[in-house]
Amino acid sequence: MNQKRPITLSIQNLSKVFHGKTERVMAVDDISFHVSEGDLFTLLGPSGCGKTTTLRCLAGFEKPSNGNIRFLGRDFTTIPPFRRNIGMVFQSYALFPHMSIFDNVAYGLRMRKIPRREIEQRVNRIIQLVELEETQKRKPSELSGGQQQRIALARALVYEPKLLLLDEPLSNLDAKLRIYMREEIRRIQQKAKVTTIYVTHDQEEALAISDQIAVMSDGKIDQIGSPDEIYEKPQTIHVADFIGQANFLTCSLVKKNEESVILRFPSNETVLLDQNKKRTSACDHSKGLLFIRPERLEVTPVLGKANSLKGQVKRVLYLGSQVRYYIQIFQQSAPQEVLVDKNRRIKDVKEGDEVALIFNEEDTGLFPLE
Ligand SMILES: Nc1ncnc2c1ncn2[C@@H]1O[C@H](COP(=O)(O)OP(=O)(O)OP(=O)(O)O)[C@@H](O)[C@H]1O
Ligand SMILES: [Mg+2]
Repeated sequence: MNQKRPITLSIQNLSKVFHGKTERVMAVDDISFHVSEGDLFTLLGPSGCGKTTTLRCLAGFEKPSNGNIRFLGRDFTTIPPFRRNIGMVFQSYALFPHMSIFDNVAYGLRMRKIPRREIEQRVNRIIQLVELEETQKRKPSELSGGQQQRIALARALVYEPKLLLLDEPLSNLDAKLRIYMREEIRRIQQKAKVTTIYVTHDQEEALAISDQIAVMSDGKIDQIGSPDEIYEKPQTIHVADFIGQANFLTCSLVKKNEESVILRFPSNETVLLDQNKKRTSACDHSKGLLFIRPERLEVTPVLGKANSLKGQVKRVLYLGSQVRYYIQIFQQSAPQEVLVDKNRRIKDVKEGDEVALIFNEEDTGLFPLE
């Protein structure tokens, strides 16, 4: 449904090279993406992959080495940072400790010489939006971490920016508060209807709050998609591995006909796969990795079914809402461990048992291996 909204932010072939004394760092390497109006678009990737640098280019704190940025139809790179009408929240949200919450939020508006009455209205409105009216007169040290984070957000939103940039805004908070605050950020972002670029290395956080996610590694974008697409249909091994849990089973591939391919596993067992049903593009290589999520595998004590793999249950881990099975397959050659997650214990299956693993073709992906 969000696809229908017009594109407001377009990044085209953006690169940023840092020239050190001895080395040259390609922090951002030819990335392109487009963000629809009012969307929350997340840059997700491991430390050092270029997320902050991309954000700093958007804000105008870094000059791109190449490429262009267009926002609301205008070439952003020609507009100085203070004219870009951007709100930002950084990792360390640094409120002014000696000022009251009200003054913290009002600070930027006062600097801009906005009339007093208007400042009061705007600050009140935004403090109400983040639901912290009762804290206005307090100092930041008299607020909890989550409340301080909400004030940092209010301080960025009070300018009514057209674009909000959030760089790991939850990294100072403990695990429980992070989950609560990410919902708050989503709520506030939706209510303010502000187009937002969100940076995180936490894949669960990205899945939970984003309209679109760009998964990055080494300065490049591997895949852009909705949370469902990224999780269900990863296009590269890196994306499949970085998001959630994944099993990768090595196999050799024999093309049977246009539609189907036979996968032969090191145990010599074979599985027939319909090319149209699996989730990645056709595979012409002779070796491959079959990808499947742990929760999409079925385990049965009944051996010998077609399109199944034999294995042995090595360990059963009871995790409360989930039971994780570690199953070893390929006994005849190098053993490989497969994870299976179920929401309850599987009947008649315990540690040491021989079992069959069954998977649905539609839940698999096939990546070529050279
Ligand atoms: N001013 C700079 N000079 C030289 N290299 C830099 C500079 N800023 C960033 N880099 C390098 O560019 C790469 C990308 O850095 P960036 O800060 O964008 O990563 P990040 O994805 O935000 O990582 P993190 O999750 O750790 O914050 C890194 O290798 C970093 O060391
Ligand atoms: Mg960073």
